[in-house]
Amino acid sequence: MTFGQLLRAYRKQRGLSLTQLAAMVHFNRGHVSKIETDKRPPSVSFAEACDRELNVGNTFTTIASALEAAARHQQGWVQPAQLPPAKQNFVGRRDHLTRLDRLLPGDEQSLAVPVAVISGPPGVGKTALAVQAAHRAVNDGHFADGQLFVNLQGPEPGTAAAPFDVLEDLLRAVGVPADRIPADLDQRAATFRSFLHGREILLVLDNAANAQQIYPLLPGSPGCGVVVTSRSRLPGLMSLVDAVRLPLAELCQPEAAMLIRAIIGDVRADAGPAAVTVLAERCGHLPLALVLAGEHIVSHQHDSADTLATELKPEHARLNLAEGDVVLRNAFDTSYQALDEQSARMFRLLGMLPGHLIDAAATAAPAGISQDEASRLLRGLASAHLIRRQDERHYHMHGLLRAYAADLARKLDGEPERAKAIRPATDPVPALSSPLPSLVA
Ligand SMILES: Nc1ncnc2c1ncn2[C@@H]1O[C@H](COP(=O)(O)OP(=O)(O)O)[C@@H](O)[C@H]1O
Ligand SMILES: [Mg+2]
Repeated sequence: MTFGQLLRAYRKQRGLSLTQLAAMVHFNRGHVSKIETDKRPPSVSFAEACDRELNVGNTFTTIASALEAAARHQQGWVQPAQLPPAKQNFVGRRDHLTRLDRLLPGDEQSLAVPVAVISGPPGVGKTALAVQAAHRAVNDGHFADGQLFVNLQGPEPGTAAAPFDVLEDLLRAVGVPADRIPADLDQRAATFRSFLHGREILLVLDNAANAQQIYPLLPGSPGCGVVVTSRSRLPGLMSLVDAVRLPLAELCQPEAAMLIRAIIGDVRADAGPAAVTVLAERCGHLPLALVLAGEHIVSHQHDSADTLATELKPEHARLNLAEGDVVLRNAFDTSYQALDEQSARMFRLLGMLPGHLIDAAATAAPAGISQDEASRLLRGLASAHLIRRQDERHYHMHGLLRAYAADLARKLDGEPERAKAIRPATDPVPALSSPLPSLVA
């Protein structure tokens, strides 16, 4: 009798439906069904749950352990479990998680590998969300053959990991000996896909630079799932693969306050609840800023959030939020440094314009460029998640990014340029006729 047949026999004997057994062992119904029909091997943790719930000693655990050892021995397969730890203090993102819960296990009828792309500005929580969703899927009994996690080191050109090197790491991680790793990119990609064939593997590709970087890494078998995170919207991806896009924005006010509270603890939060709210706002509800602020309060042993909230009143002070070697400003630097010169100048200009809402047509004059050119640059900045499209005419810039852009403008653009940049609000400068020297390449 196979493991599946034995499980089915015990289940029937106890008068349990598949759904009931699934609920008892805390795996989903589809997973239990696949094991009963021997379509997938049982994991040891699944077998332990069956032994416990059906009260049959270690009957199932013994079989599952033997099956697992045999499979490993036969295939040289090393089951990777590379996910970083999930966050204890994870807050919010309920809609995103619900979509990922549904998307990642894939659709039994589909031949395509589900690919989810989480994109957003630096520090917004892309990696945290990807890791959280991945752990949830594994906890639900999916991707039992392993989970791979790779930092692709985008978006700066020059630092982004080459697919050729990444594939070598991935092949080693699943147990391919060094002398069997091909010396050519296409063959490496093909070997990787062959190794994943018939297996249920989750691949998390963190911090992708562009679509071309991730394409060779994608598995071909429908049992696999992929989560990509990127600061870019990854233009061109849709022509390569059908991906589901999940753009990520900052947390809402209650979630932001909840995150600060979780880090500083109830006693400090209750000593100044209003200060927690102000602090969350001054951090622009951006998770990275919130975490740095919370850790600062704890490490400086403040009694409440009050002192730090006051210290962060000036916008530029917020950019210096830092704990250990993580500095908020540095997270923005990598996105800024990936911009071409014209886009970088436009970005700095946006820091000088009044208000958080950017009127697309009105940026052309202070930039000294045509409206078409201004629109193109703004679209590029939105694709890099440095601004967000609000409607046909407007873009929105996050407060911290605006403070960062203004800070750069103060350092890199002279006073006359800045004065001219702000002037069009009251005294329009004709486009093209008097270009701002520092804003035109
Ligand atoms: N939803 C969340 N709940 C709790 N902490 C979060 C959440 N999102 C992000 N964080 C924390 O904020 C910081 C920045 O998040 P991260 O995922 O690294 O951002 P990104 O990948 O977008 O640059 C990390 O310390 C992370 O753990
Ligand atoms: Mg990240």
